[in-house]
Amino acid sequence: MNLKETLHNTEKFLAERMPVEKMNYASMVQKKEVPVHGLAWGYYMGGLAMFFFMVQIATGLMLLFYYQPTVSDAHASVEFITDQIPAGALVRNVHAWASSLMIGSVLIHLLTAFAMKAFEKPRELTWVTGVLLLGITFGFGFTGYLLPWHQIAVNATKIGLQTIEEIGGYLPGQMAEWPRLAKEIIQGEASVGQATLSRFFSLHVIILPLAIFGVLGFHLVSVQLHGMSKGIDAKPRRLEKFFPTFLLKDLRVWGIAFMVLFILGACLPFESLFAYPLFEPFDPKGSTPDGIKPEWYFFWVYYPLELLPLWVILVGSTLLAGVLLATPWIFKNTNRQSLRLIAIAAGIYLIIMTLFGENIYHLFKG
Ligand code: HEM
Repeated sequence: MNLKETLHNTEKFLAERMPVEKMNYASMVQKKEVPVHGLAWGYYMGGLAMFFFMVQIATGLMLLFYYQPTVSDAHASVEFITDQIPAGALVRNVHAWASSLMIGSVLIHLLTAFAMKAFEKPRELTWVTGVLLLGITFGFGFTGYLLPWHQIAVNATKIGLQTIEEIGGYLPGQMAEWPRLAKEIIQGEASVGQATLSRFFSLHVIILPLAIFGVLGFHLVSVQLHGMSKGIDAKPRRLEKFFPTFLLKDLRVWGIAFMVLFILGACLPFESLFAYPLFEPFDPKGSTPDGIKPEWYFFWVYYPLELLPLWVILVGSTLLAGVLLATPWIFKNTNRQSLRLIAIAAGIYLIIMTLFGENIYHLFKG
């Protein structure tokens, strides 16, 4: 294929995936319809993830008024927000709860979009941008964890970065150096310190938000241009108008999510769910505390990592990332029933590892 043909095919591919001629109020709002069927609850999941993301922006901006991104003051500034600022504890707690709820809803959104075969032509790029959003969402969690600069966070970040460096041992030739370089770039100095905190802070409050705005913008515009996928093989019971019927239902779900979030934020400190003290400030001379683990949404990969050799996890995660990105092409001819079974199996794995990962670990390692 010559260059002219390649360019022509690329242009045709993009024109079908991004039909900009439909970028008008009539196509994107007035004519949009949503199918009604047994799996239609899945259509609310992307909106729910977006609601929690908006809460993160609002509460994150409030925290920024007082948070100090320096190793000497970060921990004290978080304590100041919690103890001295009116409603500071509530804002901080809502930010922590909403981050977990956002990750939970993004994962359910991925599984329902998969089960409904919502990645089918012409929605391949909606799916691929979704996978990027998943990576960015995990990135928010990983970088945010370090910001309070407490003993567990700093040590867990050290372990995470150390694991990146160890990957080099499994790569051939010059490539063996890449993970160490990546670790040095992220860490910024010989050990986790001020340069690391500055980098995680910039990632958390500037770089990742800019990236998510761009990718989410593309994701949402493509959803509006194509309308909702049909979701099931059979004929839907009926179609309902997106505007105002579905949008009002979406807002009802957001209202319930807001109430749940407010009650959790006001009544249940996020830290109370952990067995170890999160409030100890990081002490460079202190010993690494026992029982260090990442946030719950990394358990699905963390406990297997503790039990299996690193290379198995590496091969597994690389394959998983590849399969996720290439899902629209790999599962092009798979029927929805099989997709549903795969989504249910993946969901069960995630739930078991999140709830019982630690028990499974002790079962094998004592
Ligand atoms: C920050 C994370 C994300 C946000 C805020 C978000 C937001 C949304 C919204 C509002 C919709 C329309 C309503 C719906 O179908 O639920 C949607 C649709 C969609 N999303 Fe996402 N999404 C995110 C991540 C993902 C991920 C991780 C995937 C999968 C890898 C994904 C794949 C899709 C697909 C395929 C559709 C089209 C659904 C259809 O036409 O039926 N999204 N997204």
